This record gives sequence, C-alpha cells and structure tokens, in this order.
Amino acid sequence: MRVGVVGQGYVGLTAAVGLAEQGHVVTGIDCDPARVAMLAKGRMPFEEPSLELPLAAATDAQSLSFVTDLADLEVPVDAVVVAVGSPPTPSGRPDLRQAGAALAGVMALDPLPGLVVVKSTIPPGTSSGWLAGRWGERLADRYVYSPEFLNQGAAIEDWRHPARLVAGLTDAGLLPVVRELYRGIDAPLVVTDPTSAEVVKYASNAFLATKVSFVGDLITLCEGTGADIDDVLTATGLDPRIGTAFLRAEGGYAGSCLPKDTLALRHWARLTGRPLPVIEAVIAANQAQQLRTVRIIEEGLGPARLLAGDAIVAVLGLRYQPWTDDLRDAPCMTLLPELQTIGARLRVFEPTLTPGQITTFFPGIEVAAGLEEALTGAAAAIVLTDWPQTVNAPWPQLATLMETPRLVVDTKNCLPADMLAASPLRYHSMGPRAHTTLSPASPPHIAEHENASPKQTPRPGPRIP
Ligand SMILES: NC(=O)c1ccc[n+]([C@@H]2O[C@H](COP(=O)([O-])OP(=O)(O)OC[C@H]3O[C@@H](n4cnc5c(N)ncnc54)[C@H](O)[C@@H]3O)[C@@H](O)[C@H]2O)c1
Repeated sequence: MRVGVVGQGYVGLTAAVGLAEQGHVVTGIDCDPARVAMLAKGRMPFEEPSLELPLAAATDAQSLSFVTDLADLEVPVDAVVVAVGSPPTPSGRPDLRQAGAALAGVMALDPLPGLVVVKSTIPPGTSSGWLAGRWGERLADRYVYSPEFLNQGAAIEDWRHPARLVAGLTDAGLLPVVRELYRGIDAPLVVTDPTSAEVVKYASNAFLATKVSFVGDLITLCEGTGADIDDVLTATGLDPRIGTAFLRAEGGYAGSCLPKDTLALRHWARLTGRPLPVIEAVIAANQAQQLRTVRIIEEGLGPARLLAGDAIVAVLGLRYQPWTDDLRDAPCMTLLPELQTIGARLRVFEPTLTPGQITTFFPGIEVAAGLEEALTGAAAAIVLTDWPQTVNAPWPQLATLMETPRLVVDTKNCLPADMLAASPLRYHSMGPRAHTTLSPASPPHIAEHENASPKQTPRPGPRIP
C-alpha cells in the first residue's frame, strides 16, 4: 500500500517506520521543516533509541520519505494515518486543532485515500462529531479510529508486537483494508465503533494511572506498618490477575499521556455532569504523591533553614525515565517550582541537557556539571532519574561532601538501600525498603525469584505511554 502518515512525533514516526518495515511505501508528513530535514537524512529529531536503526534502514531502502505539507504528498495513496498531537488545555480538554487541521488537509486530497486512520488520542464522541459534520459520508466511508498504545523507549517493539489492535469504524467494508494496513502484525484485532475505540484508549491509560496512584496508598500503608514496599509490590504483582507492570514505588505518574488523559476524563465528567469518582481520586492521589517529596524536604530541613535561603537541594536528573528526552508533564515540572516556593536553593545535575537548556526550563537555577559538584555543600538530594551514574555512585564517599542532615530522597527507589543505610546519609525512599539482599535462610523458591530480579540493580520502570 502507499501510505501517508501526518505528524512525525513519537507516534507518527513509529507508525511510519513500522508501516515501511511491513512493506508499505510510506511518506511521513510534518509541518516542522527542521524535523523533516533531519528525518530526510535518516536522523532522529528526538530521543527514541528503538527507532534509530529501523529509521535509517527504511530511508536507505527508500520505503520511507518525508515532506512538510500534505499538499506535497504524491497522490493517489491508499491510506493516510493521522498521528498529530492533542495537547491538554488548562481545563484538561484536549486541544483538537492539530487533528482538525490534519483531517481537513486529508479531506482536501484529490483523489481521497481509501482509508483514513486517526491515531491521535481524542475524547469520546470526537469521531462521531467529525463523521456527522462537514465531511459526512465522504469521511465515514473511509474512517477508522485506531488508538495507539506504544510506550516511549520501546516504541518500535510495541508497534511490531502490540497487545491488541483496535479499529473503530462505521463501515465494516473497510476491514480488509485495515487488515492489509496492519499486515504482518500478529495481534488480536478488536473491531468496534469509533466512540468505543476512543474510550478504550482512555480506559487503558486511566487504569495504568490508577495502578500508579494505588501504589501511592501502598507506600503510605508500608510507611505506617514498616512493611517493605519492594517486597509487597513484587509479591502482589506476581499474581497474574494483578500483574507487575506499573506496580512500582515512584513519585507518581508522569509523562505526556497519563496526566493528560486522566485530566481529559475529569474534564469530560465535569462537562457532562457524570461523575467519575475513581478518576478524580486518582488525579488527587497523584498530585499528593508528587508533592510527597516536597513534604519530606520541608520536614527534613526545617522551614527556618529553608526560609533562610541557604539550604542547597541537589536535584539529580530531570527526566522521568532515562530513555526519553520527553519532558512533557515530567515530575520536575511540578516539583522544582514547588521546592522553590518553600525556599529551597536548587542545584540541578542532568547529564543529557546543557546548562542553557536547563535554565530555559528553570530560569536562574544553579546547574552542576557532575554528581560531586551537585552534592558539595547540599543539605539534601532528590533522585528524580535513575541514571546509572547516580544509582552506582559511591554514596558513602559522596555523603562526606554534603552538609547535615545529608537527606537523600529517592523518588525512583533505585539506590542500593543497604549501602545508603550504612552511610551517614538519611535515606528516604518511597516506602520502606528494608531488605535489599538475599537472606541466606530464604527457601530455594524464594531465592530463585529474588535472583531473577536483584534489588540492587535498577529495574526498568513502568514506561508511560
Ligand atoms: N507519545 C506517546 O507515547 C503516545 C502514545 C500513545 C498515544 N499518543 C497520542 O498520539 C498523539 C501524538 O502524540 P506524539 O507524542 O507523537 O505527539 P508529538 O507532539 O510528539 O508529535 C506531533 C507531531 O505532529 C506535527 N503536526 C502537528 N500538526 C500537524 C499538521 N497539521 N500537519 C503535519 N504535522 C503536524 C507536529 O509538528 C509534531 O511533530 C497524541 O494524541 C498522543 O496523545 C502518544
């Protein structure tokens, strides 16, 4: 098939590369000329390591090319996939202007493609609004809403091996073309109406967000009882009815999708007067979870010292996951301004950003070139990213550079807790982490599992779609 993919961000570029791998001839369209210029040379415009080699292979094989304007797309094409952004507005309502503009461009193609697939996340009812609107039957005859569930950091693997494909359509005659588009992907295809497909996407992300917020409650429960949060989560998640994915003690959910999609559901609930109490609670719990770190710093350093303005707090990492440079709704965006309001003097170490880039996000902030510089004279440190250099650092030596109380807040539960406990540091994880080594007395079946995921190496965290 000849396919156009509108929008070359995380989702659109993955779709373009994946479709080219499946044997289609693909043109990626993005209105950002700088992005298109890089892509045309086979270079990634953002960090998504999983795409680097497949992108270069597809451009070399000339099965993937790029243009900046839909009007430059060589027609006819069999299908167009729309994967532009749907960013949140302050009310939580997704901004649908990118999607509306992209769809208008597609509907201006002559001849029209046989299949128009929307992948952008859009609120329930958006597709039916479009189908009932000015494009009417001309769109309905070719329209499929097919949400995307990929995780940043593993985008192309998720495209190749999705848990399921979803096709929301009103014309069942489109199914053979949908199957042809997704040929080579071995996954169940759920065929439904467009509104149900829209709800599937929100349901999936809302459930993942709920899991993360529920872990926030477990952290509180473990803090109150002294239970080991790591052991509780591992053992609970091993129940296949529950699953280990997204069951990890962290400073709340973050990233470009879960916060945006839960806020969109809350907006829908308030707009329609149909309460979604679980979603409301999940959002509130996440905010509390993100601010837990501020409370720990405030209690640990004391308001007087903070207000005097001489308490340096080192922030180790700005990314919410090491494998993505996407800072949309990363915890640092909420946390750093909050810490500044309580008087913390922040000093940031983020190995992948230049001082100029860091101060663009956080004007006037102090930037350190390395861990030692960040921690020298700091009264507290907050681990926001599980960078290997932070996880594997010689913490007992680094502790000597810090000032009392030498508080370390580990929002990723990634540091070797036993090593920190033996140092002069005051280690604060997300819930107690009592046992970080194998007990020799452990029965063999327990030891086997612990060996399979040793606690002292950073485990891949939940990747936020
Ligand atoms: N990022 C994820 O992990 C993820 C996962 C699943 C679903 N989604 C959803 O997929 C959609 C895309 O997400 P993303 O993260 O790839 O977005 P993004 O912001 O990274 O990329 C969007 C791209 O579309 C381009 N664009 C905007 N309007 C255009 C137009 N009219 N014509 C051509 N190009 C245009 C922008 O220049 C940008 O490069 C969103 O609705 C998002 O919610 C994202």
